[in-house]
Amino acid sequence: MRLKNKVAVVTGGAKGLGGEMAMLFAANGAKVIAVDMMPLTYENPNVEYFQLNVSDSAACKAFCDKVIEKYGKIDILVNNAGITRDAMTRKMTDDMWNAVISVNLTGVFNLTRHIGPHMEEIGGGSIINISSVVGQFGNIGQANYAATKAGVIGLTMTWAKEFARKGVPVRVNAIAPGYIMTDMMKTVPPELLEKFAKQTMLGRLGQPEEIAKAALFLASDDASYVTGQTIAVNGGMRL
Ligand SMILES: NC(=O)c1ccc[n+]([C@@H]2O[C@H](COP(=O)([O-])OP(=O)(O)OC[C@H]3O[C@@H](n4cnc5c(N)ncnc54)[C@H](O)[C@@H]3O)[C@@H](O)[C@H]2O)c1
Repeated sequence: MRLKNKVAVVTGGAKGLGGEMAMLFAANGAKVIAVDMMPLTYENPNVEYFQLNVSDSAACKAFCDKVIEKYGKIDILVNNAGITRDAMTRKMTDDMWNAVISVNLTGVFNLTRHIGPHMEEIGGGSIINISSVVGQFGNIGQANYAATKAGVIGLTMTWAKEFARKGVPVRVNAIAPGYIMTDMMKTVPPELLEKFAKQTMLGRLGQPEEIAKAALFLASDDASYVTGQTIAVNGGMRL
């Protein structure tokens, strides 16, 4: 019960990595609010669903106000919602570029701009941004996605400084997953997935619970001296 009495918000919490984190946090005693545009694909008495598009700035503000009014506080925020719209740069349309920026980067800003200062007020908190191996190394056909995932690493370091400047322990970290078996990987051709597995030292792709366990560490007091970091959970990728 490493998150006993904690209130956690997990974006993109309906399935995939977000769903796994929401359930693991709940199993460790947290009250979890899983926000997503689609309904939850699982049931858990300690995970409450809230429909929210993270790229809608006004809706994010209203959501934060509602959660704080209902639960009194937000201790943990996981900015996990993310999308891909892949194409070679010369073929990438404005819509593809803007869609990915608005969810993966602006969506992270939309919630953290309210929840970070709230955590300063309540005396602490943990914010976890989900980046990607692609944000650290780049990837052909993912200029938009790579820009957002590198961007959240910049946000992580900035907010780690900004929200702790008054001496309040608001910790901000990122996780950079490698290739993990979720719906997001369904569009990737099997031969490419095999190639990605071979690029890791462990010789395999990751499982969602392996990311959730890293998130649980960062969310909990076990990580009380960890901030401003990007933790790679990628099986030892050699790119
Ligand atoms: N799966 C991987 O290999 C991998 C690797 C590196 C990073 N990531 C990142 O991890 C995060 C989760 O990925 P996943 O693999 O679980 O993907 P997924 O597609 O299974 O889940 C993403 C969730 O985000 C939700 N979402 C999308 N747009 C939203 C919006 N505007 N507002 C609210 N919710 C929205 C979706 O409905 C979905 O439930 C993403 O940020 C992704 O970029 C995934």
